[in-house]
Amino acid sequence: MHPLFEYDHMEKVYIETYGCQMNFADSEVVASILQKAGYTMAESLDDADYCLINTCAIRDNAEQRVRHRVRELRARQVRDGRLRIGVLGCMAERLQNQLMAEEDNVSFVCGPDAYRRLPQVLAEVADGRQAAEVELSTTETYADIEPVRLGSNGISAYISIMRGCQNYCSYCVVPYTRGRERSRDPQTIVAEAQHLFDRGYREVTLLGQNVNSYRNTEAGFPELMDRVASIDPALRVRFATSHPKDLSDSLLEVMAAHPNICRCIHLPVQSGSNRMLKAMNRHYTIEWYLDRVDSIRRHLPDCSITTDVIAGFCGETLEDHQATLDLFRRVRYDYAFMFKYSQRDGTYAARHMADDIADAEKTRRLNEIINLQGQIALENNQLEVGRDYEVLVEGESHRSKEQLFGRNSQNKVLVFDRRDAVPGTYRQVHVDSCTAATLLGHLI
Ligand code: 5AD
Ligand code: SF4
Repeated sequence: MHPLFEYDHMEKVYIETYGCQMNFADSEVVASILQKAGYTMAESLDDADYCLINTCAIRDNAEQRVRHRVRELRARQVRDGRLRIGVLGCMAERLQNQLMAEEDNVSFVCGPDAYRRLPQVLAEVADGRQAAEVELSTTETYADIEPVRLGSNGISAYISIMRGCQNYCSYCVVPYTRGRERSRDPQTIVAEAQHLFDRGYREVTLLGQNVNSYRNTEAGFPELMDRVASIDPALRVRFATSHPKDLSDSLLEVMAAHPNICRCIHLPVQSGSNRMLKAMNRHYTIEWYLDRVDSIRRHLPDCSITTDVIAGFCGETLEDHQATLDLFRRVRYDYAFMFKYSQRDGTYAARHMADDIADAEKTRRLNEIINLQGQIALENNQLEVGRDYEVLVEGESHRSKEQLFGRNSQNKVLVFDRRDAVPGTYRQVHVDSCTAATLLGHLI
């Protein structure tokens, strides 16, 4: 094929993203790689030649959702023979060729470290062949690729600062699907944040599986945060996720020194029982965790704390479960992502531990945690009534065109009458009332 022709094909790619923030950030890297190779991004599936599904493998229900979607797309392919489907991300890495054997309308799988090969892969499958690119890398960070901000509001963007994870929590598939941990060069991170700010963005979220172990020759995570936060006081900086074992006081000191580093720390606890934490290979005790919480509250009295928790892990007794409820009562999280344990093939837990809590019992324990957390979130929000917050205005509220929403530094959503407020600017909002999920207020 003539090279000019190759770069002139204008074939259209539609990307659907499931799962975590990291996947959304990766889809933006994928879009950038494909645009450089001459593909355009389709606005909808209807005018796409390729549908790329960026997938999550963390729990079985995440995978079932994708399988369902792939099967649904078969009907589209029958009507429109040219549509090719590719599966990206963690499910592609985990299942590799097996996925194409089981879902034969999938043309290719491409794992998280192989996205630079996508232009070749798309060319390969154009004539009906199948392809699998699933090699993991110890060095790939896509540092030189400027992500195409898909579906962005022009205000808030993700910046991936590291990839992979080698903590090997015994329940977790991520070390197998995303490979070894590696950190991106800090200069490229600071330059990306600066460039976003120059284009009008007012919030960046630095992403990694465990940002606290970010390490590059020149900088650890606290130094990196200091540099990004120094770009401009009007640029909000968020980060996720923090592993409790690595959350250092020096990070909290850097946060305290920069009011534009948001007062919100996502600190997944997973369980309130030391016995479970040991079985989960988490490398901390509840005493250590509570010490980290105390330290956050000492350094940053107005900081919100959020978490992840798993109900019904292998061997979890009612006592262990009670310990989780007790921990929730003690920490009083502002938000929690709460899950039932889902056994993942290949993990330490799947190989060596029995998934011995009945599904109905997992659900019961999960619901108990959800109900407790709902009540705590409501009570926390009730304490916010009467307070004033600086809010970064993000857009129209779902309820009404007359209302806008934004977030405060603590990442709580505030809804208020529009008046003269403009998305992308900071405004002061007084909180008048609340639900468990939202603060309702008015512009000051
Ligand atoms: N089952 C249930 N939840 C899981 N998580 C990770 N692996 C599993 C699993 N096998 C949860 C953890 C993690 C979050 C991203 O997903 O709480 O912090
Ligand atoms: Fe999974 Fe643990 Fe790594 Fe988080 S830190 S991605 S839970 S292995």
